Amino acid sequence: MDESVLKIGLMGLGEVSMMHEAGYNEEPRAHIVAVCDRDEQLAKSRAEPYGAKHYSDCEELVNDNDVDTVDIMLPHRFHYKYAKKAMLAGKNVLIEKPMAMKYKEARDLISTAKAVGVRLAVAENTRYVELYQKAYQLVQKNRLGKIWLVRTLIAGSEVARYSDKQSWVGKKKTGGGIIIDAGVHSFYLLKWFFGEIKNLRTFYWHTLGTDAEDNAVVLGTLEDGTHFDSQFSDTAQQPWTERLEVYGEKGVLIGDQLSDPPLKVYNGPMDDEGETVQVQYDPLGWKIRSVMEEIKDFVGSIVEKREPLVNPNDAAYAVKVAELAYKKSEELNYFE
Ligand SMILES: NC(=O)c1ccc[n+]([C@@H]2O[C@H](COP(=O)([O-])OP(=O)(O)OC[C@H]3O[C@@H](n4cnc5c(N)ncnc54)[C@H](O)[C@@H]3O)[C@@H](O)[C@H]2O)c1
Repeated sequence: MDESVLKIGLMGLGEVSMMHEAGYNEEPRAHIVAVCDRDEQLAKSRAEPYGAKHYSDCEELVNDNDVDTVDIMLPHRFHYKYAKKAMLAGKNVLIEKPMAMKYKEARDLISTAKAVGVRLAVAENTRYVELYQKAYQLVQKNRLGKIWLVRTLIAGSEVARYSDKQSWVGKKKTGGGIIIDAGVHSFYLLKWFFGEIKNLRTFYWHTLGTDAEDNAVVLGTLEDGTHFDSQFSDTAQQPWTERLEVYGEKGVLIGDQLSDPPLKVYNGPMDDEGETVQVQYDPLGWKIRSVMEEIKDFVGSIVEKREPLVNPNDAAYAVKVAELAYKKSEELNYFE
């Protein structure tokens, strides 16, 4: 194999790994040489098309000298552990969100990458979503004037995995609830668009009866004075969607992956039609496309020796906000 081609090892071969794999398949500068999943049969079948090695213990992949770059798509509780081990073994690391379950661990990963001299990147696909990229340009160009309020929503169905006692999803110890899982996407987006958060308050509730919250609302104020509210639901029986509403002095931007067209700008109270901003309506494909772009950017960042679009400091900041959101939280209980 060409020495300049990255030799990728995949850790965790579940739902999101298909999207990562699709990205690597379009990237001639990377080749999957090893895969790992505790489900050995799964690992074997996923290794086959690439003639790759397969492991059921991630320690073995960490110690495989033929792998120079590791992509971690494991349950949240393993992110820090394997990202650290892989970097200490001299490998570049791409890690799924949240980059760690604790801010302190996220910071430690950033310092480790610097000390060892490897690339650490976070798979925060938000940055690669077409709707958000177009919305960001409009906000940057001051199309809406001074921003008064920002609202975000992430909603979809994790009902099956919360209800599955064997799944790591929706359990405090292995994955955490929706604030650490989906919250980090919106907290990253707020930081990217508007900067840091000044204060916040969280309300959450449990619909499905596990020990992790499956619905939450985080309300707050950004450092620049803009108010925000971010809503999250793992019990929405619909295709996964994300919604962004930006309310400015001159106009309002409404984006929703389940609307056709997905992005419009309204120029004042009398503008009942709004202006369509060109974004592909692709309710089942928008996320996959963003993840594939993220993979290509990751590979490009190593090969071209440049920074990826997502700065790990901002991904770590999102974990910090999630921590604060838990600290400042209150469970909604209507009957007490
Ligand atoms: N960016 C996004 O939009 C997005 C979407 C989905 C998932 N994710 C993230 O991707 C990660 C994985 O999520 P998923 O939905 O693919 O989970 P998943 O449960 O579908 O896949 C996880 C895989 O890891 C394997 N595994 C678990 N423990 C292991 C261990 N100790 N050693 C080896 N293998 C082990 C499991 O067998 C499973 O195949 C999470 O961090 C999640 O938050 C991100």
